[in-house]
Amino acid sequence: KQTATPPLVLGGGSNVVLSDAGYRGVVIKNKITGRTYIERSDDILLHCGAGEVLDDVIAETAAKDLWGLENLSAIPGSVGATPIQNVGAYGVEVSQRIESVTAVHRVTGEMRIFSNDECLFSYRDSWFKTAAGQKWVVVGVAFLLRKNATPTLTYPDLQHLIGTPITPQLVRDTVASVRAAKFPDWHEVGTVGSFFKNPTISTTAFEKLRQKYPDIPGYVGPTGVKISLGWVLDKVCHLRGVYQGLVGLYENQALVLVVKQGATATDILSFSDFVTAEVWRTIGISIEREATVYTEEGMRV
Ligand code: EPU
Repeated sequence: KQTATPPLVLGGGSNVVLSDAGYRGVVIKNKITGRTYIERSDDILLHCGAGEVLDDVIAETAAKDLWGLENLSAIPGSVGATPIQNVGAYGVEVSQRIESVTAVHRVTGEMRIFSNDECLFSYRDSWFKTAAGQKWVVVGVAFLLRKNATPTLTYPDLQHLIGTPITPQLVRDTVASVRAAKFPDWHEVGTVGSFFKNPTISTTAFEKLRQKYPDIPGYVGPTGVKISLGWVLDKVCHLRGVYQGLVGLYENQALVLVVKQGATATDILSFSDFVTAEVWRTIGISIEREATVYTEEGMRV
C-alpha cells in the first residue's frame, strides 16, 4: 500500500524489533560496501561503506595488526548502525574510534560529512537518533586506527591480558570467547543483545542503593553513576532465566532478552513492560529500552 511512511533503512537488523503488522513502507537494506585504508603517519584512516558487516571489518583490521576496533569483535550488525547508537562493548565505545560519518539527506539528497563532535555521541546515543538526525541516512564511517599497540584492557574479563605479548587478534579472540559464554548464538535464538540500557543515577541514589545492595556494580561517569541493570535483574529482581510464554531473560545474562520460535512483537513489548515495572517496583528506577522498536508507520518507539 502506498503511504507517506518513510523508507526504513536497515543495517543488519540486529537491534530492531518490528511491529507485528509489519512495515507500511519501503524497507531498504543498506548494502553499500567498500573499505579504503589511508595511511596517516602512525594512524590509519579506514573509510567503510555503511553496509559492510562490522565483524568482517574487524576480522580484517585485526589480521592487519591494526588497533582500535578489536574490543567490538563479534557484535552482529553493520558498520552504518554503529554511530547511530554508539555501539560499545568491553571498554570501548565506537565513538572513540570514529573520525567522521558520511550521511545523505533523505529528502534533498545532500551528502554531508559529520565530524565526530557533530555526532553528539553519548552512551548508546547520538545526534542521528534525534528527529533532525533521523532525516539522514548513514552511508559511510571513517574509523581512526593505530599501528602502534594501544590496547584497552579495562574491562574485568580482559585484565588478565595485561603484561602479556598482545595483538589486536588476541584481544579479538578473547572478546569473542567472553561473548560466546555470555550471549546466546543469534543464529539460533531470537535476540537483540542487551534489550535495555544500563541506567545512570545520581551519586546519592547510588549510595542509598549500595546500603541495601553492597555488591551492586556502579561506574562513575560524567552525569552520575551507571549501574549494571543485568545485575539488578539477576540479583534483585530474580528474573534471569525467567520466561513469560515465549519471551524471557537469558540464563547467562539477564540484560539479554531472548525469544523462542513464534514470539510476536506484542509478546516482546508486553514482557519488556513487565520487566520495566519490576525494576521500578523493586528499586524505583525507570529504565529505557536499548533496542529500536518500529511501529508500522515508521515511528521509533
Ligand atoms: N551481571 C549479573 N547477572 C547477569 C548479568 C550481569 O550479575 O545476569 C553482572 C555482571 O557480573 C557484571 C555486571 O552485571 O558485574 C555487568 O554485566 P556485563 O559485563 O555482562 O555487561 P552489561 O552491562 O550487562 C554492557 C553492554 C553490552 C556489552 C557489555 C560488555 C549495555 C546496554 N550493554 O552489558 O552491550 O557487550 O556491557 O561491555 O550497555 C548491547 O548493547 O547490545 C550489548 C550487548
